[in-house]
Amino acid sequence: MPETIGIAGTGRLAQALARLLVDQGAPVVCMAGRDPERTRRAAAFAGAGVEPAGYEGVSCRAGRWLIAVSDAALPEVAGMLAAAHPQPGIALHTCGARDESALADLRGRGFACGTLHPLQTVSDPLQGTAALRGAAFAVSGDPEAREWAGEIAGWLGGTVLAVPGEARALYHAAAVLASNYLTALIDAAQGLLARAAGVDREEALRGLAPLIRTAVDNTLDRGPAAALTGPVERGDAATVTAHLQALAGQPEEDLYRAAGLHALDLARRKGLEGGAAQRIEAVLRGNGSRQ
Ligand SMILES: NC(=O)c1ccc[n+]([C@@H]2O[C@H](COP(=O)([O-])OP(=O)(O)OC[C@H]3O[C@@H](n4cnc5c(N)ncnc54)[C@H](OP(=O)(O)O)[C@@H]3O)[C@@H](O)[C@H]2O)c1
Repeated sequence: MPETIGIAGTGRLAQALARLLVDQGAPVVCMAGRDPERTRRAAAFAGAGVEPAGYEGVSCRAGRWLIAVSDAALPEVAGMLAAAHPQPGIALHTCGARDESALADLRGRGFACGTLHPLQTVSDPLQGTAALRGAAFAVSGDPEAREWAGEIAGWLGGTVLAVPGEARALYHAAAVLASNYLTALIDAAQGLLARAAGVDREEALRGLAPLIRTAVDNTLDRGPAAALTGPVERGDAATVTAHLQALAGQPEEDLYRAAGLHALDLARRKGLEGGAAQRIEAVLRGNGSRQ
């Protein structure tokens, strides 16, 4: 029993992780959920030998629990698992923004508690089984829990990032910038291009796709400083001024200024000459052309 694994949750990440662990030969014995039909389907997706279970008195008593439920439901689910498990084991949750204290009831029962947050986006279970292989996993918690988290990351060919509880919010902000806000930036560019070229948003996105892919590939392959091009990197204050005149009063103006200031920081680190950098900074901060 100590080595057997239960998965709490029947959503996208729970299903993807369950199937990956089963594929690795890990002893996943059950999936627990609150809706019997969804739980049955999730357990079937995970693979042979995985039994569906409810939370009430959890019919399956695994020694180790991987809890992948909505962030807000973590304390409640931890409470139900704690009530059903007289013998302590190990429990990990997959939430990025919260630390292991979300599992307080299990800790109170003597469980070693921790976190295992994949730095990856899972939009459906099947896509998740491919995307999670080789991902980085943020890990925190009690030593035994961190050890098990490291084992799971290893089974999935991933790497471990040690992110202690007090750094969780900073860590999660990084994840949001790299995924959600990148998406938001692309959405803003899509709208501007559609207006400029008089095309619909789909055509604008298709037009932007090669540029976005190359910029992302260059950034990942060569690092942000080497990959940065464009008017800020060249110290071209006149072009930045023209952009801001075209964007004046539009919703994208603030976004352009904020992203431009970060690009300027990057350009400075890359060696942009001081006077040119100051002229661009004045334009981006809105005290250039008005002076
Ligand atoms: N998806 C991602 O890209 C991703 C990436 C990294 C980390 N995560 C983390 O993984 C966790 C799950 O995310 P997800 O995307 O897999 O979510 P999801 O697909 O929306 O699934 C959420 C799960 O939580 C359950 N749940 C919600 N409220 C509950 C409650 N009060 N009691 C019991 N169960 C409850 C749901 O059960 P029902 O089906 O019964 O509603 C469902 O099984 C979250 O902590 C999230 O932050 C997700």
